[in-house]
Amino acid sequence: MCGIIGYNGIQDPKGILLDGLKKLEYRGYDSAGIAILENNKTLVFRSEGKINQLETKLSTKKFNGSLGIGHTRWATHGAPTENNAHPHQVGAVTLVHNGIIENYLEHKSHLEKSNAVFKSDTDTEILAHLFNQAIKLGLSLKEACLKILPTLKGSYAFVALNDNQPDQMIGVANGAPLIVGLTKNENYLASDVQAILNRTNKVIYLKDGQIALCKKGEVEIFTPEGTLLKPEIKTLHWTADQMEKSGYRHYMLKEIHEQSQAIANTISGNIDPTSETIQIPELKKLQDKLKNLNRISIVACGTARHAGLVGKYYLEKFARVSTDVDFGSEFRYRQPVLEKNSLTLLISQSGETADTLAALRESRVHEVPALSICNVRESSLARESDIVLYTNAGPEIGVASTKAFTTQLTFLYMFAVQLGQIRGVISPEYAKELTNDLMHLPFLVDKTLRLEKQIEEIALNFQDNPFFFYMGRDNQYPIALESALKLKEISYAHAEGYPAGELKHGPIALIDRQAAVIVLATQNTSPKTFHEAGKSDNILLEKILSNLQQVKARGGQILSVGTEGDTVFSKESKYFIGLPKASWAINPILSTIPMQLLAYHIASLRGTDVDKPRNLAKSVTVE
Ligand code: F6R
Repeated sequence: MCGIIGYNGIQDPKGILLDGLKKLEYRGYDSAGIAILENNKTLVFRSEGKINQLETKLSTKKFNGSLGIGHTRWATHGAPTENNAHPHQVGAVTLVHNGIIENYLEHKSHLEKSNAVFKSDTDTEILAHLFNQAIKLGLSLKEACLKILPTLKGSYAFVALNDNQPDQMIGVANGAPLIVGLTKNENYLASDVQAILNRTNKVIYLKDGQIALCKKGEVEIFTPEGTLLKPEIKTLHWTADQMEKSGYRHYMLKEIHEQSQAIANTISGNIDPTSETIQIPELKKLQDKLKNLNRISIVACGTARHAGLVGKYYLEKFARVSTDVDFGSEFRYRQPVLEKNSLTLLISQSGETADTLAALRESRVHEVPALSICNVRESSLARESDIVLYTNAGPEIGVASTKAFTTQLTFLYMFAVQLGQIRGVISPEYAKELTNDLMHLPFLVDKTLRLEKQIEEIALNFQDNPFFFYMGRDNQYPIALESALKLKEISYAHAEGYPAGELKHGPIALIDRQAAVIVLATQNTSPKTFHEAGKSDNILLEKILSNLQQVKARGGQILSVGTEGDTVFSKESKYFIGLPKASWAINPILSTIPMQLLAYHIASLRGTDVDKPRNLAKSVTVE
């Protein structure tokens, strides 16, 4: 969603701001703008659409200022027009904002009484008016901030400039992230580290309510009450080259291909070499609680929720704990029953998804511990959880989540196996075997990625199909959901994911000769785990074969995703992808990969903007 970049330094800000905005593009946006303060006047440039439209507008402009702010806007209040784009300027104040000021109508009606004139439909403009009023009374940026903040409701981050203080910019984070980047002579404010990774690796993460006053070569951090703080300066884990496409056409394709390494990085540090079993160090803190758990509530949104659905199969099978999976947007509104011996497990790549965060806060109210699986360090979710398990996927720029999903599955696997051990549900030998299966996963992922050529050919045949139906059973059912989501978000094709057993209860009516039907039918080829872990898997293969026949009888074009060496599904299907042999719990991670590649290649053939699909934002920070 909206992205903020601010610069206070020694260079012309234009290039730095535009570059920062491009790095924020992946968050999703529909308009953009920058403002540069020179000679005690802030000049504002805004444009609808893509950043290159803004860039064209600015192509001949040169500035002699060294202070500026920029913004990518994803419309919430008011249409995505130039008029509603940020920065917003009122009098001497120019401001960019992310999030929502919930009581903006209340402020607006007060401001109208004092003859304020509004030029946009945004909630942001009221902020600029409030600042301008305060500054007209003779207050400084910092004093204005301290006066205004207690009157605001909502989750937001903003950065403001004042024509009369040409050496300063001020930023506030409250429920929406804002970080300060530091170099010797320059400082930055940004919504996320990606915007400034190529400039510095030293940052301060603002906590809720904190104010950053950025002066030339110096930054002061204050509490909302104005008390000066000693900030903690952190060094970033990510590097600027991780932000490059490295020769791939799209970030999404690069990220699909990074999965073997990302999974290896996620496993690393969580295997005990003595017992040769999974031991996640962070879980020690909750050991007693975990032993006596009687329920886990998984809460997440979108792809992360699909990971949670696979997690349910893992947790119920390996740890024998009753597990529910909820949508972040539903959880807190349905008055969930949160028992004493339960755990809330939040899953989020960004750690900033508003509904997932709200679920975490709901579980706090009930004093239920919160464990999160998250990719972004120091994100709001990570900061507020009792325990954070970091997926080491590296930055995910493509809007469609790929490596975040498979690393989430990897952590859910590890968590379920360790929980099974803690609860005495699985034997040390079995834990060792499951650990061994996991250690082979990066190699199997790598092998699966080599099927890309074959998948590209299938994509060529499927590119014009109007409807795609994905079906799977057991732990492959969530992969059917995820595969359908991946295809629809980047190719805009109509796709549905279903548990195959539901076919006859309605969706079979959709099947005709134009339907592409993808059947997830992998075998559990780990005979020892078959007994303890997944009796259902191979038994269910017979059932899904009947589902396949029902679809075939109605003319559906079938692609089966099975296991190499298969002689049944390959014979019955128009296309067949044979995955490396793997166990019940590893199979859903492997079958995800060809489905990501299929979605990617169909979307590329359809010519969509794969990394920035229409209407989507990478991180959904509003409800
Ligand atoms: C789909 C996708 C989204 C996210 C969802 C949650 O490809 O990326 O469905 O999974 O918006 O985002 P996070 O994981 O950041 O909480």
